[in-house]
Amino acid sequence: MMRATVLVIAGVLSACASTPPPDDTSFQQPAFTPRELPMDVHSRSEPNRVRVTRVALDLTLDFEARELRGSVELGFDRFDREAPLVLDTQGLAIVDVFGQDGAPRRWKLSDEDPLLGAALSIDLAPADVAVRVVYHTTERATALQWLAPAQTADRKQPFLFTQGQSILTRTWIPLQDSPGVRITYTAALRAPPELTVVMSAEQQGRDADGVWHFRMPQAIPSYLIALAAGDLAFEKISERCGIWAEPSIAKGARDELVDTEAMIRAAEELFGPYRWGRYDIIILPPSFPFGGMENPRLTFATPTILAGDKSMVSLVAHELAHSWSGNLVTNATWRDFWLNEGFTVYCEQRIMERVFGPARSTLEKALARNDLDQEMTELEPWQQVLHIDLAGKNPDDGFSGVPYEKGALFLRRLEAVWTQPVFDRFLRGYFDGHAFQSITTDDFVQCLRNKLFVTDPAKAKLVDLDAWLEKPLLPADAPRYVSTALTDVDTERARWLAGTPAKQLATQGWVTQQWQHFIHTVPPDVSIERMVELDDAFHFTSTHNCEILCDWLVLAVRRRYLAADERLSEFLVSVGRRKFLKPLYSELAKTPEGLARARAIYAEARPRYHAVSTATVDKLLDWTP
Ligand code: BES
Ligand code: ZN
Repeated sequence: MMRATVLVIAGVLSACASTPPPDDTSFQQPAFTPRELPMDVHSRSEPNRVRVTRVALDLTLDFEARELRGSVELGFDRFDREAPLVLDTQGLAIVDVFGQDGAPRRWKLSDEDPLLGAALSIDLAPADVAVRVVYHTTERATALQWLAPAQTADRKQPFLFTQGQSILTRTWIPLQDSPGVRITYTAALRAPPELTVVMSAEQQGRDADGVWHFRMPQAIPSYLIALAAGDLAFEKISERCGIWAEPSIAKGARDELVDTEAMIRAAEELFGPYRWGRYDIIILPPSFPFGGMENPRLTFATPTILAGDKSMVSLVAHELAHSWSGNLVTNATWRDFWLNEGFTVYCEQRIMERVFGPARSTLEKALARNDLDQEMTELEPWQQVLHIDLAGKNPDDGFSGVPYEKGALFLRRLEAVWTQPVFDRFLRGYFDGHAFQSITTDDFVQCLRNKLFVTDPAKAKLVDLDAWLEKPLLPADAPRYVSTALTDVDTERARWLAGTPAKQLATQGWVTQQWQHFIHTVPPDVSIERMVELDDAFHFTSTHNCEILCDWLVLAVRRRYLAADERLSEFLVSVGRRKFLKPLYSELAKTPEGLARARAIYAEARPRYHAVSTATVDKLLDWTP
């Protein structure tokens, strides 16, 4: 893959170099000499020889055939004049390749690797600086989910959305699908006239022929190219911020997420200017496999955050924070994923604290710490490491709370040692210095040493980098949080266990996270009678709050509380968010009867889930499609 010839690339960027502010009006390439990219075991492309810098999509969204069809033009830099252009593809039908002179170019597809797909290798003419690949997607395009009208809120129109992270963009666009390779993009998209099309880019409107046009002038990694199309309405929150959603849920979604502009302001005060122009959120149908996805300018979100009481808005703080940690400064490979998510959780918590106060933020931090401690007991040692070794593995196999919470705790530890004002200055410099770059864990460590550790070598000794980054478990100095909101819950639970009826507990004003903590800490051998008592008092089985419901249903399965059975099937068939499916199906799979039930429900639900979720549940239930 990587050859000696790549040494022609000049000028390795210094770790904390400063980059001029982006110019939003012109197409922007990284404002530095392209550096040699680190080896990415999840891409077969060879960006150190010929590197794609520009992507121009021209596609038709064919809802009947459930395929995207058209072409992509790729502009590139050539570091090795002899080398072919090598792209990642997976399950794509390549039809033709042309040079910019319009003449065909010779191309070949390699063997198919089950994890990475097939490399598309294109022979370039001496003058080539761009090629056009004509192609269409197939039913193997796991990034895409095509939904029938019945799977949407309003049940009138079909829906399509994409999910690129981590290595799925290659299933709908042939390109160099590595987060180290940054590209600008444009798109011209044809769709049925009754649908609205949105992307992780500036929407430039529909032309006289009904073609939608988009442009993303800032250089982003391929996993952030995203597209959604459906019956969409827009609700404005501020000049730069609003909500896209199906018409029947748009107004409610706006009310729930109305604090988003305040969050953007808080984030700007903390981390520097928001550099992407607009910040909109699209509420997707319930099969969206994640809570949120930080597609630039347009966060994709699950409708399950619309709890009615703003209790899930930390998810917006999280996806918004990615506008700095992840989208502006990106993990160069998936082993560095914690740089994206750990920084983002840290930033999310800072935003929540500013906008909603320290009590709420401490409550969320304390709950997250409890969850991590619990999850750690179930993970293998290699999965507990921040700088995780993913060679030969799907990046998804390393997915857990570790990059998120352990990553954030590491930054909290640094903050505690250096004090918040000093750490804030470091963070600001880190974002500005690496803006629009993709960096490795080693780059981060170098920056840490050069910019923070040098300021006080005695303090530096208090942080064991090797333990934090390269070792399993949590270092003993990982910060802990005491939330009085949670200790109140502990008090009431103790009263209940000592015999006070559930209805007499002081639960007035409890928020979602308190209910979650209560359910998590119900003793594992609780009797059915007491489950009934809880349900009578608090109506868990009929709640519309998906976080509380999911935790309650896990307990219901564990205790064989049959009164929740129907609700469980209904929930699993209607919601495709992996975070909920995973604990529920795994709990069911623990007994033979439960497994049989899980398989029966899954047979019905599976066709409605996104491929990201089916990949996980297939494994849990040992399901062969
Ligand atoms: N970028 C992630 C989602 C993701 C991670 C997709 C890895 C594919 C591979 C997103 O920012 C995220 O972390 N979402 C969380 C929300 C959260 C922690 C508040 C989710 O979906 O639950
Ligand atoms: Zn995230």
